[in-house]
Amino acid sequence: MRINTKNERETQAIGQAIGQECRGGEVLALVGDLGAGKTKLLQGLAKGLGIKTRVNSPTFNILKIYKGNKRTSSVKIFCHIDAYRLKLAKDLINLGVKEYLGRPDTVVAIEWAEKVRAIWPKKTIVIKIKHLGEDKREILIK
Ligand SMILES: Nc1ncnc2c1ncn2[C@@H]1O[C@H](COP(=O)(O)OP(=O)(O)OP(=O)(O)O)[C@@H](O)[C@H]1O
Ligand SMILES: [Mg+2]
Repeated sequence: MRINTKNERETQAIGQAIGQECRGGEVLALVGDLGAGKTKLLQGLAKGLGIKTRVNSPTFNILKIYKGNKRTSSVKIFCHIDAYRLKLAKDLINLGVKEYLGRPDTVVAIEWAEKVRAIWPKKTIVIKIKHLGEDKREILIK
């Protein structure tokens, strides 16, 4: 699926719609340059998952866990990863990522996912975001 957005609000709305479709067990690989809008999309996603806490870039901790609302969603955990500063997929394994990948009550989203391709499960959903100039972005989901 391919969608164009013309501002961050639209990108967040796409994320929110994806979040509302998630049932748990999903792994989302986000691919796109600096400032493409990966975190913005995931802020919307978290909202769609029913998470009240504001999602920020986890750059300084690489892996961040958010608790979902058990009453409103089957997704109990949102695991947000930013692989930007990682060199090896193994580093992510050392951070305990395997505990979350594919877990039925958990959604995992990985920014800079191309850096840790080795850990992508087979059913990984790939979300590519491209700059189209100014505030325009193209979002590709497969
Ligand atoms: N259509 C758009 N969709 C998303 N963000 C947009 C759009 N137009 C402009 N922006 C701006 O682009 C920036 C996207 O930042 P964001 O942190 O989401 O990028 P990122 O891909 O996570 O970058 P990084 O690789 O540094 O983590 C924000 O400042 C946002 O306001
Ligand atoms: Mg980011």
